Amino acid sequence: MHKITVAIDGYSGCGKSTTARLVADALQYTYLDTGAMYRAVTHYFLENHVDWNDADAVAAALPRIRVSFGERRADGGRDTLLNGANVEDAIRSMAVSSKVSEVSAVPAVRRFLVAQQQQIGQAKGVVAEGRDMGTHVFPEAELKVFVTADMDVRAERRQAELQAKGQDVSLQEIRDNLTHRDRIDTSRDDTPLRQADDAEVLDTTHLTIPQQVAWVVERARTRM
Ligand code: C5P
Repeated sequence: MHKITVAIDGYSGCGKSTTARLVADALQYTYLDTGAMYRAVTHYFLENHVDWNDADAVAAALPRIRVSFGERRADGGRDTLLNGANVEDAIRSMAVSSKVSEVSAVPAVRRFLVAQQQQIGQAKGVVAEGRDMGTHVFPEAELKVFVTADMDVRAERRQAELQAKGQDVSLQEIRDNLTHRDRIDTSRDDTPLRQADDAEVLDTTHLTIPQQVAWVVERARTRM
């Protein structure tokens, strides 16, 4: 069986990350969480007061940023490291969530991270998850999945995730954040979120996580 690339894109809070991580586990592939990379850069900009609308400031800051991933955790995930420090919890905060789409719309930031993503994906055997995996970063991916779900379900799932981490955020605030990110992600000039022509749609509204994982793994196996 030859190793393939699985590209998973879609809206925020549709269960993409959990599904991608478990698919990677099932196939014994590398899981690439590109959203975590954009979140880590956003965290760096916020902490270091870098104005992402200032091209010179961004150009000066990017070479000082190294995003990497820690050892595999028991749940199959990996902590996100920023210049070696574990920022996994910080990058999931609402402070980062509310700004990450603005930062992700900056072309220099995208170029910086896309180059690293393509390098990681070079060896194949990767499940890459984000917004532009199938359309831009891995256009040759053997399997492309576009994930959607109803807004109410997305907001409830995201709230439960945050609650599990001890963060109490109202459904309204989460819904507003998801809507805000959808709007920026789909309307930015540089590689906006859209379904690749050859992507298959996975609507997770009425699916459990194991069902979502099985759906992707089944399709991946037919392409190996
Ligand atoms: O996947 P996650 O919700 O953690 O991603 C956070 C944000 O990072 C997205 O809302 C989007 O603005 C940005 N992103 C992106 N391109 C990717 C992955 C994430 O623009 N490939």
